Amino acid sequence: MNLFGRNFLTLKDYTREEIEYLLDLAMKLKVDKKKGITGDRLKGKNIALLFEKPSTRTRCAFVVGARDEGGFPEYLGKDDIQLGHKESVADTARVLGRMFDGIEFRGFKHSTVEELAKYAGVPVWNGLTDEYHPTQILADLLTMREYFGKLEGLNFVYVGDGRNNMANSLMIGMTKLGVNMTILAPKSLHPSDELVNLCKGYANKSGAKLNISDDLNAVKGADVIYTDVWASMGEEDKAKERIELLRPYQVNKALMDKTGKDSTIFMHCLPAVKGYEVTEDIFESDKSVVFDEAENRMHTIKAVMVATLGREDDK
Ligand code: CP
Ligand code: NVA
Repeated sequence: MNLFGRNFLTLKDYTREEIEYLLDLAMKLKVDKKKGITGDRLKGKNIALLFEKPSTRTRCAFVVGARDEGGFPEYLGKDDIQLGHKESVADTARVLGRMFDGIEFRGFKHSTVEELAKYAGVPVWNGLTDEYHPTQILADLLTMREYFGKLEGLNFVYVGDGRNNMANSLMIGMTKLGVNMTILAPKSLHPSDELVNLCKGYANKSGAKLNISDDLNAVKGADVIYTDVWASMGEEDKAKERIELLRPYQVNKALMDKTGKDSTIFMHCLPAVKGYEVTEDIFESDKSVVFDEAENRMHTIKAVMVATLGREDDK
């Protein structure tokens, strides 16, 4: 598998085999790191980390992942560079592409990361936009594979805002990898028909089922219950109306019990607003794997950088 030079903007652009390759590579890098072995697959590579929005996990995963393999990450926050204020995205991309070997972008418009990728001439990685959060999905898939020993045939239910970056990206990733996917959300927050139709195609190919529902009984048989914040970054003005709308969709003991399985695990990309999308007892329960997901952000993001930027003979 050769992903050298590729962008990583959404999982739509990656085949099932390519995603599985990235998960395998992440696992290998994780096992090595646990033994204290790091490498030089990114030796001498300068990596720009552009952030319009704040971040704990994604930023730290790129920094630690790059350093572990000999790379040099440089954080560029929203007030540090001219991007979008005094300089166009295309011009910024062409400047950074002359100096850096890879560019991560987290921000608002998905079109910004696409434009960076179009003009930079080096790999561009999406660290979250309003529409997609693909690196998070790799971490979630790796966590599920570690926990269940497989992905195909698992029943995955995402509960909450069914139109946000996490819902969109989880739907793509799960249907591509043969995981049965349910989006459980009030009708006004159901995913777009366009994306649902695209994911139906992925599901047909992988053998997965895709179900969009507003009925809480849809959690029956779930192996995984996943949720995310009710108001994403940039939607702070919607917080009040979302609380009203999404209160019945809180992940709590009653909802976990409705799965009818003792083995159902709880997942969340974090950061979490406890008492809203998830109750404290579920978040802290032994069924919660949220910190495994958080750790796996680093191993999977490292794999993305190594695969697209590292020396081919070193993978
Ligand atoms: N899950 C995630 O992307 O976390 P951060 O916003 O802290 O990067
Ligand atoms: N949907 C959330 C994800 C955070 C990782 C947000 O965009 O704020």
